[in-house]
Amino acid sequence: MTAVARANIALIKYWGKRSIDLNLPATGSISITLDALRTQTTLTLDPSLSADQLTLNGEQAEPRQLKKVSRFLNLMAGSAERPRANISSENSFPTGAGLASSASGFAALASAAAHALGLSHDSRKLSRIARQGSGSAARSIYGGFVEMKCGSGETDEDDYAVPLYDENYWDLRVLIAITDNKPKNIGSTEGMNQTKQSSPFYESWVETSEVDLNEMRDALSGRNFTRMGKLAEQSALKMHGLMLSSRPPLLYWNPATVEVIHKVWEMRNQGTEAYVTIDAGPQVKILCQSDTSTAIKKELGSVSGIQQIIETGLGSGVKIKEVN
Ligand code: PMV
Repeated sequence: MTAVARANIALIKYWGKRSIDLNLPATGSISITLDALRTQTTLTLDPSLSADQLTLNGEQAEPRQLKKVSRFLNLMAGSAERPRANISSENSFPTGAGLASSASGFAALASAAAHALGLSHDSRKLSRIARQGSGSAARSIYGGFVEMKCGSGETDEDDYAVPLYDENYWDLRVLIAITDNKPKNIGSTEGMNQTKQSSPFYESWVETSEVDLNEMRDALSGRNFTRMGKLAEQSALKMHGLMLSSRPPLLYWNPATVEVIHKVWEMRNQGTEAYVTIDAGPQVKILCQSDTSTAIKKELGSVSGIQQIIETGLGSGVKIKEVN
């Protein structure tokens, strides 16, 4: 069974868990699903295998990656006594560098495994399952504009993503400025725990999230680019401020990351509207509109630390690929 899912970037960020066991977020989040960042995963059940086999981008996966995937499949099957699987997964973009490969990866895996195991899960259930692989994966089940809901209890009944608007609602563009192709040093789960345990600002981050989510819903409902962009940029910088206030500090940026931020602000001062958002990595995603994306991309060409720019619009949710 083959499934294709796309990565997403959060406009209102998620950073912090209320439970690690079930991977429950401490706040909601809102994201857009990105067309160009795809993961294609093929999963075949093979009762003759004694262990799961996992290939990532044509290479045998590391033991810790295989362990995570095997646990995820046990969870989906409801038992460790299940047929083993042969899994092969390909990304259309650099893996592990803060481009949300875990989001598209676990969304594609959840969908392919559900089909192979004969589970007739609806999208909400798939979203709850994908969340246990990676919080942001819950959002990649859907296309376009997506909100991740945050429940309040110890169970995950209310922790799933819901679609807000599909990919055709608003022709937004995202320019992804790659400043480093190497995988990041500190993964998001470790980073989030570090922040929760040590940042003096963590409580106010959680407390103010509802206001941010309300404002973003409002900006999206009016397709208000200025308001959406300002809110998204602010949420990203608030998250990175929070990360910096952790002990030890978490700094995912490199000098080129900062250079890109300044460049975008300079363009904005000169009348070209664009906003930045950054996840747990050094890449900068620039939110812009279709009529200015070409000029902005050209202007970014003067930033020496950018290795590559990926341009994308919004994409659809996870899909099973029909085999002819
Ligand atoms: O769920 P994870 O482990 O992919 O963590 C996502 C964290 C951020 O990308 C930084 C923010 C977000 O909401 O996607």
